[in-house]
Amino acid sequence: MNRWQNLWRFIPLFGLMMLLLTGCGSDTISALRPRGPVARDQLFLMKLSLGIMVLVVLVVFVIYIYVLVRFRKKKGDKDIVPKQVEGSHTLEIIWTVIPIILLLILAVPTVSYTVKLSENHIENKDAVHVKVTAHQFWWQFDYPELGIATAQDLVIPTNKKIALEITSADVVHSFWVPSLGGKQDTNVGMTNIMYLEADDAAVFLGKCAELCGASHALMDFKVISKSDADFNAWVDKLKKPAAIPADAKAGEQVFKDNCLSCHAVNAQGLGFGPNLNGFASREMIAGVLPRGKNNDQNLHDWIVDPNSVKPGTKMPAFGPTGAKHLEEQQVKDLIKYLNALQ
Ligand code: CUA
Repeated sequence: MNRWQNLWRFIPLFGLMMLLLTGCGSDTISALRPRGPVARDQLFLMKLSLGIMVLVVLVVFVIYIYVLVRFRKKKGDKDIVPKQVEGSHTLEIIWTVIPIILLLILAVPTVSYTVKLSENHIENKDAVHVKVTAHQFWWQFDYPELGIATAQDLVIPTNKKIALEITSADVVHSFWVPSLGGKQDTNVGMTNIMYLEADDAAVFLGKCAELCGASHALMDFKVISKSDADFNAWVDKLKKPAAIPADAKAGEQVFKDNCLSCHAVNAQGLGFGPNLNGFASREMIAGVLPRGKNNDQNLHDWIVDPNSVKPGTKMPAFGPTGAKHLEEQQVKDLIKYLNALQ
């Protein structure tokens, strides 16, 4: 008994924590601060259903409390049985018709938005078509019409529909960009479709929203929206092979001997691991470690012990003590080469 009483004392603390935590989050990962038409429609549905629920709860509670107070037996009252209204037509009609009206108010927009948001824009000439493939624990993005492929950073033009075909290479994941819309499960051997659209140029955070293994919580990605001109420049840059400076040539050889069997570095290449074309322009290493300017420590940590960064990753350790042996100097050369992949 005492133990339970102690637990009750924590309730104010939990309440305070809840209030504090509601202040967390940011503009680029919040379904409550939509940054595109799809997310706006979804927020409207959330507000509508929440509004109806709150209205119903309020009305029921007000009547309940009123009846409790008004009709309770007071001191000196006689034992009387109040007038029975069982089978009252008026009441039965009221509590049947009102829920029907509320359900209609909820159902009509929900169904129409569901139909609208599941429109297929893959053949739409004005849309950008991207194939999304989820892997444990990273994201692959192929742009079939543009002839490019990338990983971790989904780069899109603003104010255009991005038609997504979503699938998985291993287990069930879920594709979610809270600020832009979602989410959609990724299933093996099955393709789901959805579309997104961003209002302005920004970097939005995306998440895997389905428990998928040890590093589920680290399966982040970015959606980078750019103006049309910047997007086209990005596509062109990705299509051109990176200019490798002379001091990165040694690293290029290390890469060819050890990494190329899994990681493509050309425009369209698909491999067992993420395509690293344009790697040096990405903000994150493996989606979770900041690259940091003039700081290669994170990249070094990732190469020599990836499992400590992302438990369960399929990337083997490369280094003096790794499963795949590389000398310390070779790791340094490799980092130099990766940093040249603009
Ligand atoms: Cu992938 Cu969770």
